[in-house]
Amino acid sequence: MVEKKPTAATRRGSILPTSSQATLINQTTSLEEDKFPTQISELDRVLSGGIVPGSLILLGGEPGIGKSTILLQICKNQDFPILYVSGEESPGQIALRATRLGKFGDNLHLLAQTDILAINAETERISPTLLIIDSIQTMSNPDLTSAPGSVTQVRETAAFFMRLAKERGMATIIVGHVTKEGNIAGPRILEHMVDCVLYFEGERAGGFRIIRAVKNRFGATGEVGIFEMAAHGLAAIANPSEYMLSGRPINAPGSVITCSMEGSRPILAEVQALVARTKAPNPRRVVSGMDYNRVNMLLAVLEKRAGLNLSESDAYINVAGGMKLTEPACDLAAIAAIAASCKNRAVDATTLIFGETGLAGEVRAVNNAQRRIDEGAKLGFTSAVIPQANLKGMRRPDGMKIYGAGNVNELIDLIFSQ
Ligand code: TYD
Ligand code: MG
Repeated sequence: MVEKKPTAATRRGSILPTSSQATLINQTTSLEEDKFPTQISELDRVLSGGIVPGSLILLGGEPGIGKSTILLQICKNQDFPILYVSGEESPGQIALRATRLGKFGDNLHLLAQTDILAINAETERISPTLLIIDSIQTMSNPDLTSAPGSVTQVRETAAFFMRLAKERGMATIIVGHVTKEGNIAGPRILEHMVDCVLYFEGERAGGFRIIRAVKNRFGATGEVGIFEMAAHGLAAIANPSEYMLSGRPINAPGSVITCSMEGSRPILAEVQALVARTKAPNPRRVVSGMDYNRVNMLLAVLEKRAGLNLSESDAYINVAGGMKLTEPACDLAAIAAIAASCKNRAVDATTLIFGETGLAGEVRAVNNAQRRIDEGAKLGFTSAVIPQANLKGMRRPDGMKIYGAGNVNELIDLIFSQ
C-alpha cells in the first residue's frame, strides 16, 4: 500500500484525444497498415509485425538485461527522426554503447533530461516519429512535489507521454525497471494504460534473453523473441532448441528434456532435479525456472501417488539456461527428473518427455503434441513419453518410438524399463 496525495494532473480528464461524433467502423481506417517494422525480426515477431504509430509500448526488465541495448538497435535500422531521452546515462555513455552496435545515421537525437516539459519542447522541435524514454522511473513532472520513481510521478509522467503519443501519432517506447518480485516498479496501472507490454527475461550472467509480449493491443500475445547477448548487441538465436541443449549432461540422474511451446514455437528445454536426504525438520524446496507452487504440487503427487518418500529430502529444481517454463505441459518432465534423482537412475538422454499432471496422478493431454514431437525428432531424439490421450492420430517421425503414459506410475515404469 502506498500513500499518495491527489494532484492537479490526476484530475485532468482523459488521456486519449476525444471526438464529439461517433464514426462507422467500416469508414474508420485501421492502424494495422501503418505499422513500421523494427527490422529486428525476433522483435517484430513479438510485436506482430512492427510498431504502430502513436502507440505506447512499455519495455520492462531487470537492470543490465539489455533494454537500452535493444532500443539503440531499433534506432540503428531506421531513417526517420528519433528522439532518445535518457534519465540515466549521458549522451556520451549512450554513444559509447552505440559504437559497439555499429554505424548510426543522422536521424537519431540524444537527450539527457528528466523534466517532461523540457522533453515536450524537444519533441516539438525535432518532431520524432519514435520517442524513447529510458526510463520512466527517472522522469519527473516539476508541478508535482513527489520524487521521481514515486507512484504519483510514474503514473503522471506515463499519462503525459501517452497523451503526447496519441496527439502527435508519435510511437513511444518507455523503459520500466522491474522490482525483485518481477513487477514493473511503480503502479500496476502502467500496464493497464499502455498499448503494449514487453518483458525481458533471462539470467543476467548468461547470454540467453527472451522478450515476451504480455499485452498487445495490436496483435497476439504470448509470442516470444529469442536472443543472445553478444559482443555487438543482441543477436537472434537461429535454433533455440539446440542452444538450450548445448552442454547438457548426458545420462546424469535428474536431467530430463521437455518441449515447451513459446508462442507459436516449440522449444526444447532441460529440467534438472536434485533430491537429497536431509535431517532438517523442514526440507528445503528450491525452484528456479518453474512455478514454485506447481513444483510443490508435483512433489506431493509423487509422494502420494507414486509412493516416493520426498518429505525427508531437500529438492532442488532448475531449468537450464535461464529459461522459464510456464506451461503445465512441462509437469511430466519435472516429475521424471525428481523421480530419477530420487532413485538415482538416469533417464535415457535421447528421450523427450512432456505432459500435464493432475492431482490424482493422471497424465493429461496437451496441445500441439505433434509439433513438440517433430521438434524433438529434428534434434535427434529417438523416443518420447507423452500423454496416452495424445497418442491417437499422432504421426510418428522416422526412427522415433512414442510411448503413452496414463499416469505417473506408468511414466516411471516407462522411463526406467528402457
Ligand atoms: P543494457 O542495455 O545497458 O541494460 P539495461 O538497459 O537493461 O539496464 O545492457 C547492459 C549489459 O549488456 C552490460 O552488462 C553489457 C552487456 N552488453 C553486451 O554484452 N554486448 C553489447 O554489445 C552491449 C551493448 C552490452
Ligand atoms: Mg538501461
